[in-house]
Amino acid sequence: MWTVLGIESSCDDLSMALLEDGRPLATVTASQVEDHRPYGGVVPEIASRKHLEHLEGTLDLALQRAGKTASQLDGIAATFTPGLVGSLLVGLNFAKGLAYALDRPFRGIHHIEAHLFSPFLEHPLVFPYLGLVVSGGHSHLYRVEGVGKYRLLGQTVDDAAGEAFDKLAKAMGLSYPGGPAIEGLAKEGDPQTFAFALPKVKSSPCHTSFSGMKTAALNHLAQVDESHFADLAASFQNGVVRALCQMVRWAFEEQGNLPLILAGGVACNGPLRTALQNLVQEYASQLLVPSPRYCTDNGAMVAWTGWQYLLLEQTSPLSLNAQARMPLGISYGEI
Ligand code: KG4
Ligand code: ZN
Repeated sequence: MWTVLGIESSCDDLSMALLEDGRPLATVTASQVEDHRPYGGVVPEIASRKHLEHLEGTLDLALQRAGKTASQLDGIAATFTPGLVGSLLVGLNFAKGLAYALDRPFRGIHHIEAHLFSPFLEHPLVFPYLGLVVSGGHSHLYRVEGVGKYRLLGQTVDDAAGEAFDKLAKAMGLSYPGGPAIEGLAKEGDPQTFAFALPKVKSSPCHTSFSGMKTAALNHLAQVDESHFADLAASFQNGVVRALCQMVRWAFEEQGNLPLILAGGVACNGPLRTALQNLVQEYASQLLVPSPRYCTDNGAMVAWTGWQYLLLEQTSPLSLNAQARMPLGISYGEI
């Protein structure tokens, strides 16, 4: 039996989870949404300070809910890249200190790698698969062969999908985070009102782009009154969904009908889930999406990924440092 603690602190959520042989026992997340809402986005300085304040309480509660003591932990995993360095350092150093004090193995985890495995907290593991990670910082499509074996097939060349949602929402005066706010407003709108062209990226058909769509939406916004906001939200959301489907369609054509997993905060989006569900049916494939609590940043996906590496006896040194950026896997075309 492996009891693993996972710590996620790359942005504004501090989340800790305990897993027993991959099965979630408890996940505790200290959200900072209310702290950042007045600024319409994450303020890095506030995020790392709040993480520090929440560290001990979050661990105590996670242990208590799991019915475990710290000495019963068999291994510890924490996100070390990519993200806000100040935020990453808080969770990472806490995890390393704990591993040292308890004399337990430690593994540093790539945040996107953890998202790519998040569906397997609730579904049996399958390899190989296509993994679409759509969040505030990423819109990346991978082919996953195994633990540590990732090939980047395509990505946004500018804004991430979640970032585009957040920026439009901010300009519309909607609450932060913007994705759920746009989705909520879009329910009252007509997605056919405003036309958004599908992105075309010259360098590769598997890449996408959201900055043109965001600029077009901001231009429409400047020309309409509030009565058209719901139509604009619905049309924009529809454009983002179509762009992501275009990427996945390309991957099915190129890679065959592998199972598709959808992960990251934007994976909570209902119309995106429905559109991808329709697409996988067209290709006789299968869609695996985590529950919303495992789509957004969470410690459970970090613990799960850490557990896989600990099983393989692939640990990280306690000298591992936080890094703001680090690519994951080999890019399509490089091999
Ligand atoms: O994965 P995540 O929690 O953090 C990052 O790693 O970025 O993703 C957060 C992003 C935000 O941009 C948020 O607006 C977006 O996910 N998001 C959504 C929805 N829920 C969260 N976007 C569209 N529709 C949603 N329902
Ligand atoms: Zn994330």
